[in-house]
Amino acid sequence: MPNTLKVLFVAAEADPFVKVGGLGDVAGSLPRALRALTTNFTGGIDVDVRLVLPLHPTVRTESATLRPTVTFYLARTGGRELVQVFESNLEGMPVYFVAGDPVNQTGAVYSSNVALDGEKYAFFSLAVLEMLQHIGWQPDILHANDWHTALAVYALQMRRLKGEFPRTFSVLTVHNLPFMGPDLAPRLAAYGLPPVNSGLPKWARAMPLPLGLWSADCIVGVSPTYAREMLTPEYGAGLQDFLQTRADVIHGILNGIDTKSFDPATDETLAFNFKPETVSTRVLNKKALQVRLDLMKEPNIPLLAMVGRMDPQKGVDLVLEALRLLMDLSWQAVILGTGDPALESAARLLQADFPERVHVETRFDLTLARQIYGGADILLMPSRYEPCGLAQMIAMRYGCLPLVRATGGLKDTVIPDQTGFVFDGNTAGALAAAIRKALALYPDRERWQTMQQTAMSQDFSWERSARRYFNLYQTLLSRQ
Ligand code: GLC
Repeated sequence: MPNTLKVLFVAAEADPFVKVGGLGDVAGSLPRALRALTTNFTGGIDVDVRLVLPLHPTVRTESATLRPTVTFYLARTGGRELVQVFESNLEGMPVYFVAGDPVNQTGAVYSSNVALDGEKYAFFSLAVLEMLQHIGWQPDILHANDWHTALAVYALQMRRLKGEFPRTFSVLTVHNLPFMGPDLAPRLAAYGLPPVNSGLPKWARAMPLPLGLWSADCIVGVSPTYAREMLTPEYGAGLQDFLQTRADVIHGILNGIDTKSFDPATDETLAFNFKPETVSTRVLNKKALQVRLDLMKEPNIPLLAMVGRMDPQKGVDLVLEALRLLMDLSWQAVILGTGDPALESAARLLQADFPERVHVETRFDLTLARQIYGGADILLMPSRYEPCGLAQMIAMRYGCLPLVRATGGLKDTVIPDQTGFVFDGNTAGALAAAIRKALALYPDRERWQTMQQTAMSQDFSWERSARRYFNLYQTLLSRQ
């Protein structure tokens, strides 16, 4: 075993440089958590994790200096593409940025132009692998994430078949299986990556994520339950039969949250800070929130919340419908999020119909989100599927009890009736019944407070996830 474990973490986005969704949180936190593992835990091994990102026009680099590192060409039929690699640093971690024409074409991290996104991420993924020949650093583990970077894993496999990269293993983490990337057959052929006999269904043979799933040494789902769900027709997005053939290399590792930043004891956006022992003072945050949201300042009325992308995946429609079924009960609700215009207007309609008890904000507001976690009573998350989910973990840390559908990471993080509420089924009726049950428990303040304290004391730190990934890397390397 080497004394240094070298990992190249490849992603489309990473906080604090560029963040659009949950992947940005993970790619911003996990690499640093891996570097922070103590040698006590690693058995004396230093973990040299480096991150590589596309240099999107939207990357925030004010706080970092970008040093040009290497420049080379990526060969393809009918021409060649210039690749420029810059290097920066995040708290001691080397971070590479890959620039080139395909990266600049759309401006956004993910655009509505599927074909251009496909070209961009194919270019990025192949440039990353090529870059390793130029920077004099060969990782033991190439760790890619989602469809955007899955082709790096595929290209690695094709090169290994030729005897190159004999000591580099690959890990592909799946954050969202249904997003597989476009069919890139002509582009792959142009880059010298002809079709292979992969056993993938015909429609998936030239798509980035499926090719990565075929070639990765190890596949990780972002929760143990999601790792199993991927093998079923309900969640497998058409790849379940293929994934069954790879079941022995599929693992589930839960994400963490940034427990330093998300800490109700120090969070400056809260009107009042609190800890598990002082959770009864949390009601002051609820009152402040009710004032801010123009709701009646009434501490005994349960305040329900939904925070996040307004996407059918998240079950926003189920929440809107369920709330209409619960008008005989006393509650208030706040919904914060942007996304699908139809869902946004349905949410605004609910507020228009019941202005005294529903408040909707269709925008992205991290401060208000934190104030909701710190003041609301119940967070609703009836996702149709949820590979991991972050909001339920943040909510628990802030004593806001999550009410979740028994799926993916929701099922793995919420302990039924101890740290939150869990229900089966995916109808508004099932959700309404679950909310009704939780509301019936609400007047039992002692029981509620015990649940809040149990929820707040769970360990959702990145260190826990980083340890699991480290062990996985070690298992792969021990196969040499
Ligand atoms: C995706 C998934 C979400 C997960 C996140 C980070 O956004 O939908 O469940 O938490 O990736 O892994």
